[in-house]
Amino acid sequence: MRIGIYPGSFDPITLGHLDVIKRSSRLVDLLIIGVLNNSGKHPLFTAEERVEMIKEVTRNIENIQVESFRGLLAEFARIKKAAVIVRGLRAITDFEYELQMAQINHKIESEVDTIFFTTSVEYSYLSSSVVKEVAFHKGDISSFVPIELVERIEAKYE
Ligand code: PNS
Repeated sequence: MRIGIYPGSFDPITLGHLDVIKRSSRLVDLLIIGVLNNSGKHPLFTAEERVEMIKEVTRNIENIQVESFRGLLAEFARIKKAAVIVRGLRAITDFEYELQMAQINHKIESEVDTIFFTTSVEYSYLSSSVVKEVAFHKGDISSFVPIELVERIEAKYE
């Protein structure tokens, strides 16, 4: 069984993330979406809320499991027996950080490799930060995030 991990903060999940989830889930038997639970960061949504939101918008994809994790991603991947870590690349600006992460993770856990999906062009500008910025200023986020989540995100800024 080939297991993949798609890790991230997902604060909140965007249509760009969902696109990578749909495409990468076709390449593995099980895709575990790993939601980073980092108490050092101050996320808009708790890890539990983020897991719940991702479960809601991926409910129609059969081979998906959503879990939060703490600590090192490479360690989480080892425990889950994952062969690959999936990441999305939007632009060249993502590359340096992603290369470093992939190399560190491979150094820590040599059984795990990282594969990259170039994001679909219609989402190449998207990030969770952009979504939060637009929502904070009461802009329309309906073309950035799954429609089921729009009200829930907007409610955080009311
Ligand atoms: O969506 P993001 O915020 O870009 O995701 C970043 C994430 C969660 C993949 C990264 O921060 C991570 O793996 N954190 C766990 C700690 C870790 O393993 N860091 C790399 C080695 S220093």
